[in-house]
Amino acid sequence: MQGTRKNIVILISGSGSNMAAIATAAQKEQWVQKINAGVAAVISNRPAAEGLGVAARLGLATAAVDHRQYESREAFDAALQRSIDAYQPALVVLAGFMRILTPAFVAHYAGRLVNIHPSLLPAFPGLNTHQRALDAGCQLAGATVHQVTADLDHGPILAQAAVPVLHGDTAATLAARVLTQEHLLYPQAIRSLLVSMQAHTPLKTRQ
Ligand code: GAR
Repeated sequence: MQGTRKNIVILISGSGSNMAAIATAAQKEQWVQKINAGVAAVISNRPAAEGLGVAARLGLATAAVDHRQYESREAFDAALQRSIDAYQPALVVLAGFMRILTPAFVAHYAGRLVNIHPSLLPAFPGLNTHQRALDAGCQLAGATVHQVTADLDHGPILAQAAVPVLHGDTAATLAARVLTQEHLLYPQAIRSLLVSMQAHTPLKTRQ
């Protein structure tokens, strides 16, 4: 396939299991050959994030931009943006990235910034989603892939997966059941988005 490769930059803070699911799907499904897209780098705000080692073992470029080294949210986001933009990303993917982003950062990546949130949005934005779903007596829980806007966990929904809440569930058992679905949902939502981005590229700028 011709044209500029669509680079994906994935941001993580922790174990990086969604990142690994995306990178593995990209390899198995031959995204480079089939849709001209690939994971270019994995960046963490936590230098000790377990997911950085996972990414390195998958052969991906990694970097850390430690938020504790910056005196303001704006300064951190500016440094993170420089690190991301070195890869000229078509898509920036938040995968368990646990930082609130500034409006300037979100605006810079408008239309190419996505997140996965462990609830059926618009229910339960924010933290502790699984315990809150249990406390509310929900019979269904799940995960949502959405475009990121300046309003936390409120951007347009791209894809969702639901799982049953089972008798005796704890936040941990429910989180594990949802996470299994996240690993299926997120790679396919990203693939669909990349394909639609290709379809919507104006002909005169296609190479
Ligand atoms: C996932 O469940 C993801 O949905 C959630 O953190 C976990 C990260 O796991 N994200 C958020 O809560 C964002 N607000 P992972 O690091 O193993 O992919």
